[in-house]
Amino acid sequence: MVSFHRLIVASLQLCLLLLVSFTDSRSLKCSPGKVCPDRPPVVLIPGDLGNQLEAKLDKPSVVHFICFKKTKDYFSLWMNVEPLVPVVIDCWIDNMRLVYNRTSHLTEAPPGVDVKVPGFGQTYTVEYLDPYKEFKYFFTIVQAMVEKGYIRNDDVRGAPYDWRKAPNENKEYFLRLKQMIEEMANKAGGPVVLIAHSMGNMYTLYFLQNQPQAWKDRYIKAFVSLGPPWAGVAKTLKIMATGDNNCIPWIRPLKIRAAQRTAVSTAWLLPFAHTWPKDMVLVSTSNTSYTVQDYQRFFKDIDYEDGWAMRQDTEPLVNALNPPGVPVHCLYGSGIPTPQGYNYTNFSDTNPTIINGDGDGTVNLLSATLCKHWVNKQKQPVQMIELPGNKHIKMLYNETTVNYIINLLFPP
Ligand SMILES: *[C@@H]1O[C@H](CO)[C@@H](O)[C@H](O)[C@H]1NC(C)=O
Ligand SMILES: *[C@@H]1O[C@H](CO)[C@@H](O)[C@H](O)[C@H]1NC(C)=O
Ligand SMILES: *[C@@H]1O[C@H](CO)[C@@H](O)[C@H](O)[C@H]1NC(C)=O
Ligand SMILES: *[C@@H]1O[C@H](CO)[C@@H](O)[C@H](O)[C@H]1NC(C)=O
Ligand SMILES: *[C@@H]1O[C@H](CO)[C@@H](O)[C@H](O)[C@H]1NC(C)=O
Repeated sequence: MVSFHRLIVASLQLCLLLLVSFTDSRSLKCSPGKVCPDRPPVVLIPGDLGNQLEAKLDKPSVVHFICFKKTKDYFSLWMNVEPLVPVVIDCWIDNMRLVYNRTSHLTEAPPGVDVKVPGFGQTYTVEYLDPYKEFKYFFTIVQAMVEKGYIRNDDVRGAPYDWRKAPNENKEYFLRLKQMIEEMANKAGGPVVLIAHSMGNMYTLYFLQNQPQAWKDRYIKAFVSLGPPWAGVAKTLKIMATGDNNCIPWIRPLKIRAAQRTAVSTAWLLPFAHTWPKDMVLVSTSNTSYTVQDYQRFFKDIDYEDGWAMRQDTEPLVNALNPPGVPVHCLYGSGIPTPQGYNYTNFSDTNPTIINGDGDGTVNLLSATLCKHWVNKQKQPVQMIELPGNKHIKMLYNETTVNYIINLLFPP
């Protein structure tokens, strides 16, 4: 029943999508003699969990007899609601997790799992998290741009990546990103605007910090930063310790933890000592506590020492105190209770008392506002735009955010 329903919905939506993109390119394409709208090309860089992933299986063994061992083709691994039901989730976790090699400092998918990132250079994979288009991500922003004349997959494009990994394991991605930016800028005859959300900002900062200034002056018009975790987020500590089942409450957190804590990007986004107060307790138990200086002991005590190795691998990748060297628009939500610490009785307890601070519900305010320190560190302007009452994801659909971006792309 369910899949039949989905099939119908999916085919209907596919028709609509084809129709929309068909109309777009017909009515808006610039032809000689016609005045074309003057607009900068845009690249969208998504955050953690922010683009689709596909997998193909040929596994030597499975964790449960109902799990698929082999598939003929790639299928949607993220996001796909069907496997997120009890028992089937075990199959999903076993495909999603990474295996860390402490000698090579690299991760791999489990044997027989081949994961790929679909749609580089296109928008669908960042507009929606799932192939059925039930979970909107960058859609509202892209749609507003299209209504002003942008053309999907032409002058607005997505740059999805394997967000389970940190930049050290995504070298190829940055080469493709650079090449795409150059192509778009050359075609448009002007520099590109980068729009990133959440961890995508850390990816973008890493990218920009590794480009020569002359390249940035030539190819980057602005960096629009939405909900940036420049100094990490405290929530990662709970994910590491006992898992976070916020999005899928019927799943036991300790189960989903296996997929979450093996993602190197989670270790990368632990709060950074350059910004976090040294005496702020991030996690406490009945007999000890942990601050930003105690990660080694923390990982030992939660019995996940790979996590400490991953942290050491990734911590030096980006120092967010150093500016990107391009014009920045830093937009961040505030006024939403945001976890900044967790009190556990012990680490078998999956329901710690949450100590909340200010932020967007996910990113702590002190992390998001780090970009204000760039004002005197680079000659390009840095704008700070606080969005009171905006949650981390919801800010992408908020009209203040959307209008800000449209005004930036089409200055009055
Ligand atoms: C881990 O990496 C090392 C060095 O690259 C390699 O020799 C070893 O075979 C790897 N271990 C596994 C289990 O893949
Ligand atoms: C959390 O634990 C700390 C000690 O580590 C204590 O000072 C604080 O009052 C506790 N907070 C809550 C809300 O339980
Ligand atoms: C805290 O208590 C746990 C048992 O609940 C024990 O394993 C651990 O060693 C104790 N830690 C310290 C620092 O006393
Ligand atoms: C750990 O905490 C849980 C839940 O708070 C409790 O039921 C359990 O007895 C504790 N275990 C130890 C070893 O203290
Ligand atoms: C959108 O964001 C603005 C600025 O933070 C806020 O005032 C407004 O209430 C938000 N709109 C909605 C519908 O949440």
